[in-house]
Amino acid sequence: MNHTPSSSESNPVRPFRELIENELSRRSFVQWFGKGVSTSVGVAALGSLPYSASGSGSTAESESSDVRLFNFKSVPVSKMDNVVVPDGYVADVLYRWGDPIDGQGPTFKLDATNTASDQERQAGMGHDGMEFFAIPGVDPNQRGMLVMNHEYTDQILLFSDGLAPLPPQKMPMEKVRKSMASHGVSVVEVEKQADGNWKVVPSPRARRITADTPAKIAGPAVKKIGEATRGTVNNCAAGRTPWGTYLTCEENIQQVFGTTDPNFTPTAMQKLYGLNNLGFYYVINGQTIPGFRWWEQVKRFDIADPNNDSERFGFVVEIDPMNPEAPPVKRTALGRFRHENAELTIAPDGRVVVYMGDDEMNQYVYKFVSKGKWDATTKSGTAGTGVSEMAGLLDEGTLYVAKFEEAGKGRWLELTPGKNNIPSKQDDPIVGMDAADICVYTRHAAKLAGATPMDRPEWLAVHPQSKQVYVSLTNNKSRTEPNAANPRPVNIFGHIIRWTEAGNDATATEFQWDVFALAGNPAHPDPVNRGNAQGDYFGCPDGLKFDSSGILWIQTDMSSSVMGKPGYEELGHNMMLAANPSTGEVRRFLTGPTGCEITGMSMTPDRKTMFVNIQHPGEPADDISDTSAPMKFSSWPDGPQGGRPRSATIVIRRKDGGLIGS
Ligand code: FEO
Ligand code: CA
Ligand code: CA
Repeated sequence: MNHTPSSSESNPVRPFRELIENELSRRSFVQWFGKGVSTSVGVAALGSLPYSASGSGSTAESESSDVRLFNFKSVPVSKMDNVVVPDGYVADVLYRWGDPIDGQGPTFKLDATNTASDQERQAGMGHDGMEFFAIPGVDPNQRGMLVMNHEYTDQILLFSDGLAPLPPQKMPMEKVRKSMASHGVSVVEVEKQADGNWKVVPSPRARRITADTPAKIAGPAVKKIGEATRGTVNNCAAGRTPWGTYLTCEENIQQVFGTTDPNFTPTAMQKLYGLNNLGFYYVINGQTIPGFRWWEQVKRFDIADPNNDSERFGFVVEIDPMNPEAPPVKRTALGRFRHENAELTIAPDGRVVVYMGDDEMNQYVYKFVSKGKWDATTKSGTAGTGVSEMAGLLDEGTLYVAKFEEAGKGRWLELTPGKNNIPSKQDDPIVGMDAADICVYTRHAAKLAGATPMDRPEWLAVHPQSKQVYVSLTNNKSRTEPNAANPRPVNIFGHIIRWTEAGNDATATEFQWDVFALAGNPAHPDPVNRGNAQGDYFGCPDGLKFDSSGILWIQTDMSSSVMGKPGYEELGHNMMLAANPSTGEVRRFLTGPTGCEITGMSMTPDRKTMFVNIQHPGEPADDISDTSAPMKFSSWPDGPQGGRPRSATIVIRRKDGGLIGS
């Protein structure tokens, strides 16, 4: 989702040319890398690549690749209301908003009259991050658990009568319950059928986790916010642990908190997290209408209530897909912000490292390093402080924020009381922070420490072999001070940067970074907006994920407010591309239906089945859907006989049963 108001500050603008020159002057850093790092230099060259992009879609068959990492014919940009995949591939719809979690019932009603109780047993809206898990003793290439996020709801499409009744009438409890049940996470069992297609099947493990599911809180913030709450919301992207759990990331939590209290004014800390009296809102015929209004019925979402739940949301939440009784656990040691995804890797000494982005303009990139270690041989953790039934490795450790410096150097700044300009309680009883404060007001600590404000950090991805870390920076319309890692003064198309940790050790406190690609058309008339990706172009990178072969899959999220508008027209709809980290080549693999974003991807271990999420097909440019004409912009995936455009998981496979991408 793309609603991210600015928290920028006013600063002088550095000349773009100066930043580009600095970038070009430091591209010989390969010697710096530690042991055994295989990396490419030159891919980052701004403005010096041999472009072969073509707006109608290049047909390169890997002749530009020195490594044949992928070998499919790229698809052209698209303005069609469907999913397009390369020749030789098929894409089938698997699990749409409203589909039952057991594959049987309750079934979706085309006029959106399903009840809240129905919705609690059906797929939520806004499919996003997703992971596929093997079931012990079952061939994971044939059957497994698919766990996915439902990021947010279109509050108009969700109901047969849209936003009615409007304020000052209250939102009825039944509607609040249905909306709360449409957020959260789905855990479903999926199975390959004889015809090669997949379907959702009945499962003792299937469940919905919603905004009302009892949840635990663990880690340093417990002493400040307690150890229990209900629910998870605004679940954006995801991650997975080697001990078989799913990590769901709470992002735009400010959307679902608000109040009708006319005397409410947010505190400085609430403002820092975008919390206000309206939450996400619509402006319809001049009337400002809060989209959620849960607070009219459920006190803990009333931001004016001193005991409201806002400090208990904005975390990474761990879920056990195999145990339907295990509550979700909020891992506060990983900080509180607009979490995008949680990319976990294991350092050489066994410590667990989680890379994370805070998706708002001019916010930061973080990493968590565990105190305890993961033993891959015994498949056990040594943290010894586990609060939950799971390994507990994510409850104790050190949180860092990234500082991207000139000349490709970077440092991780520890967020600890008394360090890096963060006053401890002993230093200052008024404004000092203890560990719990840092885990709840992480943005504040990161700013004090001097983190680098970024162009909306979305997903991070770690290369499975080289361990290089990639982050997508989707765009930033309010950057006032370009820096080396965010060189565009206004970055409407976004970019991808990457780094290697010192000694190739994920726990290191220094790293060396470069720009992997600036997004946008290389032939754009404005040099600032010109992209430099080799091969096919794209805009607003968001989802990033490596498959086990080392293909970097890029998913885009141009806002529906700009899609098809001048300057963006040539990019068509949102898309998914494959990138070769060694050569820099990018090739378009999939285009989505009207108004959607592409987000979330997971594969079976044999790489023959790929699950991809299509979020918010048919989203209007102004976000205001029309209950009298719900399919005005898109009828995907059901076509004209359907009732609503519906977010959905699709399954992609090759007709010849081969490896995806190869
Ligand atoms: Fe939910 Fe930042 O995308
Ligand atoms: Ca996005
Ligand atoms: Ca996203």
